[in-house]
Amino acid sequence: MTKLFTNIQFLVSARETYPMLRGDALATLPILEQAYLLIENDLIAGYGLMADLDDAIKHKPAITINTKGATVMPCWVDSHSHIVYAGSRENEFLAKLKGASYAEIAANGGGILSSATLLASTSEEDLLNDAHRRLMEVIAQGTGALEIKSGYGLSVAGELKMLRVIKKLKAISPIPIKATFLGAHAIPQNFKHNKEGYVSLIVNEMLPAIARENLADYVDVFCEEGFFTAADTDMICKAALQYNLQPKLHVNQLNSIGGISVGIENNALSLDHLETLTTFDIEQLGKFKGCCTLLPSAAFFLRMPPPEARKLISAGAAITLASDYNPGSSPSGNMNFVTTLGCIQLKMLPEEVINAATINGAYAMGLQHELGSITVGKKANLIFTHPVPNLAYLFYSFGTSHIQKVMINGDWIPASTTDFL
Ligand code: NIG
Ligand code: FE
Repeated sequence: MTKLFTNIQFLVSARETYPMLRGDALATLPILEQAYLLIENDLIAGYGLMADLDDAIKHKPAITINTKGATVMPCWVDSHSHIVYAGSRENEFLAKLKGASYAEIAANGGGILSSATLLASTSEEDLLNDAHRRLMEVIAQGTGALEIKSGYGLSVAGELKMLRVIKKLKAISPIPIKATFLGAHAIPQNFKHNKEGYVSLIVNEMLPAIARENLADYVDVFCEEGFFTAADTDMICKAALQYNLQPKLHVNQLNSIGGISVGIENNALSLDHLETLTTFDIEQLGKFKGCCTLLPSAAFFLRMPPPEARKLISAGAAITLASDYNPGSSPSGNMNFVTTLGCIQLKMLPEEVINAATINGAYAMGLQHELGSITVGKKANLIFTHPVPNLAYLFYSFGTSHIQKVMINGDWIPASTTDFL
């Protein structure tokens, strides 16, 4: 069935070519003013100016819907999250309010390890239900594709359990999901004095088992002091590449220890976090052909200086913005907030944050041909906003939800995902 949407005030990112946007090109955002949009079943079938509405009528739309001045844009593509987890960690939030640091909490058995302990005693069914609730929550906030990492299992059984939950989530999700294996998220208690043993468990047992069940699309390592070194990261990336798992890495969150070079050498699809960068790191990232994924809500929640997006853009990098939704450093997956922080804290322009969280996000999860722009043949995963005077208003008027409706696969998603019965 063909649906025609008329009187769209701004049709955002309507384009037929959609390269990964780097450097100055990140600010190039095509916008049609006073436009129409055609949707056929779950796909975008055409668009144009209201002045040329006759062209749309030729498609014989079954329904015409007057949007009365809505802005229509592609859904957010959130290429970095950890939404499969058990419980919550507001106790650490309180400890931090009283002065403890993220690193101190981790060193005292809190942080990732406490989420791992909770996950071990949580059933697959409960994990799936909780993750599904989070998924539906972020879809209602305009997310139209989501990458999800393992990394709270930290044992063969635990990591497989998490990845099986993600696989089940993929099967019931209305939006595309990609799974990333993050066995190297932290060193579990039983390997506290034997990190080499844990790395070899990842390489020799976890990876082959994951490949046998086809449970992951990508591999990730938390390359950080007290976690995994650049050499560990290199070893895990090389082993994963044998199973066609391309790296998407946590690098330079707290320290610059060589993760960027390892990622580039191992053909990473994205290098994520990047809060702590040397001049050399920035130079390297400017030439890196993958995505530099910044996670402004994690830096915000941890009260770290925001990632230096402007320097990266000047160096020619392809910036992506993602939520990092997880219980420790970003207990929110709201991409409207992430993009607002992109403007307010990272000093990115509205055009840049939209591109970074749509088309570049799609590149960071291998979905650039399906999502991330308003392009004929791409999926109709779209945000319809309330009328706004201009795009800057969406980010300037922060804290207000500007979303009127979210369309996934050509259908409106239910206004409320709460089920009391
Ligand atoms: O991306 N830094 C490593 N991993 C997550 C945090 C996970 C957690 O604290 O549970 C991150 O920030
Ligand atoms: Fe993360």
